[in-house]
Amino acid sequence: MSDRKGFTVWFTGLSGAGKSTLAEALSERMKTGALAHEILDGDVVRTNLSKGLGFSKEDRDTNIRRIGFVANLLTRHGVPVLTAAISPYKAIREECRAMIGDDKFVEVHVHAPVEVLIERDTKGLYKKAIAGEIKEFTGISDPYEEPENPHVRVRTHEQSIEESLEDIWNHLIERGFIPNAHSQSA
Ligand code: ADX
Repeated sequence: MSDRKGFTVWFTGLSGAGKSTLAEALSERMKTGALAHEILDGDVVRTNLSKGLGFSKEDRDTNIRRIGFVANLLTRHGVPVLTAAISPYKAIREECRAMIGDDKFVEVHVHAPVEVLIERDTKGLYKKAIAGEIKEFTGISDPYEEPENPHVRVRTHEQSIEESLEDIWNHLIERGFIPNAHSQSA
C-alpha cells in the first residue's frame, strides 16, 4: 500500500452534470482492479463533515476547503481519492490543487450545457431555482467558473458514461496512477 502513489481525481461541474455518477463508475472500475480508494461526494459530505453549511460563497469555500483537506490527508498516505462537489470557484480549486500537489491532482470537468441540465433536472432543483424557490443556485442564480485547462473534460450530453469513464481511465494510466495491467480493455 505505502509504495503506491496516492492521487486525487477532482470532479467539478454543475449539479446534475454527472460528477457523482462518474465517481461511482470510476470507483467500481477501481474495485475490479482491487485499487483501494475513497469517495468524497458533495451531497454526502454536506450531511456530516459540512453539515450546517449553506451555499453562500463563504460556505461553499469552507465546504471545498474541507474536502481538499481530507483529500490531501488520504492522498499523501497513498490512498486515491475521488471528489465530487460542484466546486464552482476556481481560486479554491487551485488552492486544493496546490495543497495536494500538481503531480497528484487530476482535474476532471464534467460538462453539460445548463439547458440540458434544466431538461434533465434529476433532483427537481433546477425547476425550483428558476422559480426562485432556491436562491443562489449554481448555473441559474450563482456563478460557476469553468476550468480553463482541466486534465480531462467530459461532455455528458454527448458522451455515454462508459465513454467518459474511458477518457478518465486513460488519463490515469497515462499519468502512471493506474498500472496498465488493470486496464479493462481486453
Ligand atoms: S459546492 O458548491 O459546495 O461544491 P456541493 O457539491 O457540496 O456544492 O453541493 C451541491 C448539491 O447541493 C447539488 O447537487 C444540489 O443537490 C444541492 N444544492 C442545494 N442548494 C443548492 C444551491 N443553491 N446551489 C447548488 N447546489 C445546491
